[in-house]
Amino acid sequence: MTTRGAMGNLDREGLRRAQQETECTARRRYGLPARVLFRLLDVFYGRPRTLSKFKVLELIARVPYQSWEQVAYIAITHTYERAGLARRIYDRVQESRAQQDNEQWHLLLLEERIARQGIREGWLRFPEWETEPFDSDFAADYAELDTVADLFRQIGYDERLHKQESVARMGEPRFH
Ligand SMILES: [Fe+2]
Repeated sequence: MTTRGAMGNLDREGLRRAQQETECTARRRYGLPARVLFRLLDVFYGRPRTLSKFKVLELIARVPYQSWEQVAYIAITHTYERAGLARRIYDRVQESRAQQDNEQWHLLLLEERIARQGIREGWLRFPEWETEPFDSDFAADYAELDTVADLFRQIGYDERLHKQESVARMGEPRFH
């Protein structure tokens, strides 16, 4: 498998293993803003897990990274005379941009699945994804994958890496 916009370079087996690891990971305790967001999603999109609902999350997911990128650029404006520091901030710009791009592929891929499957607000039928070939206009941009199930495993793996990076960044909120 060749990945491009997707993160990591996992083969089929690696994707399956990553899914199992994610499912075995304890959930974080959600803060108030997250709980409000999830509640609002349930109100507007219903409680069932639909692709449309996940699409909204992908749309929202880019926003914090956009903020990081913008704030980091402003920080460079104020620190460029300290080259080492400015360079480290620029690394953060690049990381934020890569995360935004990755979330953008998720958004386009979900939109494409919704259009192709004609799914409106029905329940997801997960077992069918195992046999459905991954046929996408974005395969060359994102990743060459065998099945739709593997697509969602890859997206899940991307999200886990985003989470791990975000958690690491929360521990070092200031540049030094
Ligand atoms: Fe995403």
